[in-house]
Amino acid sequence: MNISIIGTGYVGLVTGACLASQGFNVMCCDMDTDKIEKLKNGLLSIYEPGLSELVNNCLQRDNLSFTSSIAETVAYSDVLFITVNTPVLEDNTCDSKYIDAAADEIASQIDSYKVIVNKSTVPVGTGRRIGTLISRVLAERGVKITFDIVSNPEFLREGSAINDFLNPDRIIVGANSTSARQILRKIYSFQLEKGIPLIESNIETAEMIKYASNTFLAAKISFINEISNICELCSADALTVARGTGLDKRIGAEFLEPGPGFGGSCFPKDIKTLSGLAAALSYDPIFINSVIEVNRRQKNRMIQKIESAAGPLDNKTITVLGLSFKADTDDVRESPSEAIIRELLEKKAIIKVYDPKAMEVMKKQNPGLRIMYCDNAYDACLDSECIILATGWNEFKKLDFKKLAKLVKKPVFMDLRNIYDPLLVRSYGFYYEGVGRI
Ligand code: NAD
Ligand code: UGA
Repeated sequence: MNISIIGTGYVGLVTGACLASQGFNVMCCDMDTDKIEKLKNGLLSIYEPGLSELVNNCLQRDNLSFTSSIAETVAYSDVLFITVNTPVLEDNTCDSKYIDAAADEIASQIDSYKVIVNKSTVPVGTGRRIGTLISRVLAERGVKITFDIVSNPEFLREGSAINDFLNPDRIIVGANSTSARQILRKIYSFQLEKGIPLIESNIETAEMIKYASNTFLAAKISFINEISNICELCSADALTVARGTGLDKRIGAEFLEPGPGFGGSCFPKDIKTLSGLAAALSYDPIFINSVIEVNRRQKNRMIQKIESAAGPLDNKTITVLGLSFKADTDDVRESPSEAIIRELLEKKAIIKVYDPKAMEVMKKQNPGLRIMYCDNAYDACLDSECIILATGWNEFKKLDFKKLAKLVKKPVFMDLRNIYDPLLVRSYGFYYEGVGRI
């Protein structure tokens, strides 16, 4: 079967490469011509573990191709996946211009039956709306062509995207047509044969499942961050509290790690969009809004902790280890680390940073940011008066504290990812603080 993908970012490229690795013929399209030219030569613009190898294997097998031509992409296959970006606007509504443009482009090109599968995260009602948009364009063209719309939300995480795509906890297919559902079952036969559950629903339900999932996960993080803040005030250890709580199967152990607040390209935007959707439906989403508010305060709390440990920040050299919003990705979108750096710069601190993968992306996206990029963690810690561990990269899990103690000007270690045993770090003469730790 041939499959087309429109939008070759994290989700589009992972979807395309994984489907090609399962034997489908896949064509990926993007309007970013630089990205496509690089991909044709096997070069990726993003870091995702294992993805470069997978893309290059499929290029060699000749069943994965790249193009900037929407006409070529639409003609290539009867199944078109939309995986474009869906940012949130200031007023908490979704900026639908990319998905609308993709639908419009499809509508102006199709000449036979197509299944249009939306994988982007979109407000409930979008599938129906783009269906109407496509019908309108077809009517303007004066052609009678049938098509089906499917909502097939994606649940992969950056850093473990390939495994998450190939082995998801569930597959969600929202469609109103039996033939479209059958085609989706064929596409996901590899996963379904392994016993991965499939939920079929109407389009609106599938769209809502995505928002409900991301909001619940983000709520768990805001919950444990709030608990950890209370722990700090009453000598309780948040990590043990999280473990003792998460072992209850009804609660579950995952997503209970306290830290600097959730970031990334999705949780912050999706939760705001769901809040905006509820407001547009005249519903006041107080729980969802408090998830956002706790997260906003968590970043401020990190600054307060840093200030109380390091003293006034004016002209102080501060090290930030980690720029990406989490380990194993070079994505810095809504990174807590970046938010903290900006606040420290406001307070006139001198910032030295190191990240194993995200420094180039950070430089490109923030050309004016006055920070010193260093070659490794130890260079970044030279003459430091406070080390902030902001991202949990493996490389930061085995720091040589004996060496660090000799390099720094003042031994202060702020472990915002709770990687280290406080007693170990303190044994090297450091002042240590984690998040919610005793
Ligand atoms: P991204 O920004 O990495 O990639 C989107 C790509 O779409 C870009 O390369 C852009 O140039 C391209 N594009 C936009 N409009 C286009 C058009 N009309 N024609 C061709 N190309 C077009 O975004 P992403 O992180 O892959 O996210 C895509 C969607 O998937 C979003 O809705 C997001 O919420 C959702 N999602 C993302 C993740 C994730 O981990 N990143 C996981 C699950 C779901
Ligand atoms: C998240 C979801 O986990 C995916 O299921 C979803 O598909 C994706 O969003 C999306 O819709 O884009 P992702 O943003 O890649 O994936 O990363 P996560 O691992 O969920 O982490 C998000 C943020 O929460 C990071 O800043 C991370 O450090 C933070 N986090 C996570 C915590 O602070 N504590 C935790 O216990 C877990």
